[in-house]
Amino acid sequence: MYRGSPRTVLLALLNILLISSCQGGNILGVFTSLSPSHLIIHISMAKVLAENGHNVTVITALKPAVNHKNITVVQVPLSEEDHKQMSATMAQFANQDNSNMFGAMFGLMGRLKFMMAKMRDIMKDQRVKDLYENKDNKFDLVMLGYFFNTYQLGIAHKLKAPVVIAATMPPNEMFNRVVGNPSAASFVPAMNMAVERGETMTFVQRIQNFLTNIVIEVFSRILESNNANIYKDIYGDDPTMPALGELVKNVSLTFFTSYALSEGPIRPNVPAVIEVGGIQIKDKPNPLPKQLAEFLSNAINGAILLSLGSNVKSSHLKSNTNIKIFNVLSKLKQRIIWKWEDLDNTPGKSDNILYSKWLPQDDILAHPNITLFITHAGKGGITEAQYHGKPMLALPIFGDQPSNALKMVKDGFGLSLSLLTLEEEPFKESLTELLENPQYTHKVKTFSALYRDRHMSARESVLYWCEYVMRHHGAAHLQSPLLKMNYIAANNLDVFALLVTILIVFIYISKFVLTAIVRKLKGKPKNTDKIKNH
Ligand SMILES: *[C@@H]1O[C@H](CO)[C@@H](O)[C@H](O)[C@H]1NC(C)=O
Ligand SMILES: *[C@@H]1O[C@H](CO)[C@@H](O)[C@H](O)[C@H]1NC(C)=O
Ligand SMILES: *[C@@H]1O[C@H](CO)[C@@H](O)[C@H](O)[C@H]1NC(C)=O
Ligand SMILES: *[C@@H]1O[C@H](CO)[C@@H](O)[C@H](O)[C@H]1NC(C)=O
Repeated sequence: MYRGSPRTVLLALLNILLISSCQGGNILGVFTSLSPSHLIIHISMAKVLAENGHNVTVITALKPAVNHKNITVVQVPLSEEDHKQMSATMAQFANQDNSNMFGAMFGLMGRLKFMMAKMRDIMKDQRVKDLYENKDNKFDLVMLGYFFNTYQLGIAHKLKAPVVIAATMPPNEMFNRVVGNPSAASFVPAMNMAVERGETMTFVQRIQNFLTNIVIEVFSRILESNNANIYKDIYGDDPTMPALGELVKNVSLTFFTSYALSEGPIRPNVPAVIEVGGIQIKDKPNPLPKQLAEFLSNAINGAILLSLGSNVKSSHLKSNTNIKIFNVLSKLKQRIIWKWEDLDNTPGKSDNILYSKWLPQDDILAHPNITLFITHAGKGGITEAQYHGKPMLALPIFGDQPSNALKMVKDGFGLSLSLLTLEEEPFKESLTELLENPQYTHKVKTFSALYRDRHMSARESVLYWCEYVMRHHGAAHLQSPLLKMNYIAANNLDVFALLVTILIVFIYISKFVLTAIVRKLKGKPKNTDKIKNH
């Protein structure tokens, strides 16, 4: 029998201490994206950690709409000028055609410059530098909110803490260089390709997908070199800082806001990919503010939520688009909750319409009397509607919204119209179809049941994996070997080259030997003649 010596008892105690040392860890969230919808996702993750006894500090540009007692916010706010410029950019997006993904991607690049410059300035701010220059601070984990900002990994190195990334998208080819996923261009459609569930891509689609992936690769490489420049700009004069590439390969895990088991695409994911789609959704909705609760409880014919998201304000749209929307909605028997910022300047008054500046979208969508969601097709909103089983009418604007809308329509959860060319008649027809044909609700409710059915909820996953990384001081052991391989080795091109060479040599030798044999055999008949003649 094995008996515990004092040494093993001590080891066991030490073990307990080590394991429990993640209880009440110090965690730093770097959530500098200028998009409020990203911040909602990132803060939701921080909140799970804070609620479970961790001391969370977050660096942000925007003021979080949601907060928690155990989260310390270090806000490096934008100037009035910056806010104006952001707003102007969004208005520009709202009034141009962004449906072509490549155009949108490279168009975005120019506008990204502004956001990246702001995010760089945050890292140079003394309030942020204090976090690592003040030697009393000890962080056990850094969580980096992703927005084309790998240069911010520098702060994790400064703090000597393991780092996880929180991405507000599904795993895609752009992330292969961070997580080490294998390339899967032949069967995983890129985000601008909507392929029917259960179908494979046709030959033409595969060509398209292949080329799309090349464009994404070029885009990533340009971004990477931008990131390397910004990294040099911030940390360049510090000889102790490794190359940015080293840090990118040292990320412990990455959280993605998707859940492939139910929403697809089915693809190979390495263990460092943790899917937490729906992380911003509460297990149980909060009670609604009184005015909203009353408005919805008296909605005898059901109610519609209209929100074009947090980036584009309704006032950014051409004013006659708003009038057209109003004309149709005000004639419906349903009640409408319309997210509208400028309450002194609404498109019109109607008994069935309630304008509101700020809306608890997730809690409203959870309400049983909501029968339809009119949305700009941001990933967050679509996810919430899918979770709560509500059909959608998408009016996408830019970024990933057109492709989100396309996928949502393919899944049969609703319809999509262009906001730029919106006319009253087709808008009304789409609403009638969605409100009267039960198939959309049926499909999205079926999906909702599937989406909620998980072995570990999104919140449990965030907590478990963050504590896991803290317990083991990183997760180098589960890193994909692909991250250490070059393109030739990763794709076995050298092995193929060797095999082809061997084959060619073999064919060459065979030919030589065969020729020799044939020549010998040709010589033989003479011999047999001789034998016969004997
Ligand atoms: C904050 O953290 C402490 C432990 O550090 C915990 O006891 C407390 O419940 C947390 N507060 C909330 C509101 O979760
Ligand atoms: C929580 O983190 C902050 C750093 O933002 C630090 O000043 C504070 O001492 C920490 N609290 C505890 C209980 O560790
Ligand atoms: C939904 O609307 C009906 C009809 O007005 C009302 O009776 C019901 O209480 C509402 N449900 C909720 C949860 O408010
Ligand atoms: C890599 O991550 C580990 C923790 O996961 C950390 O201790 C180490 O300093 C990191 N290396 C670099 C070069 O930042």
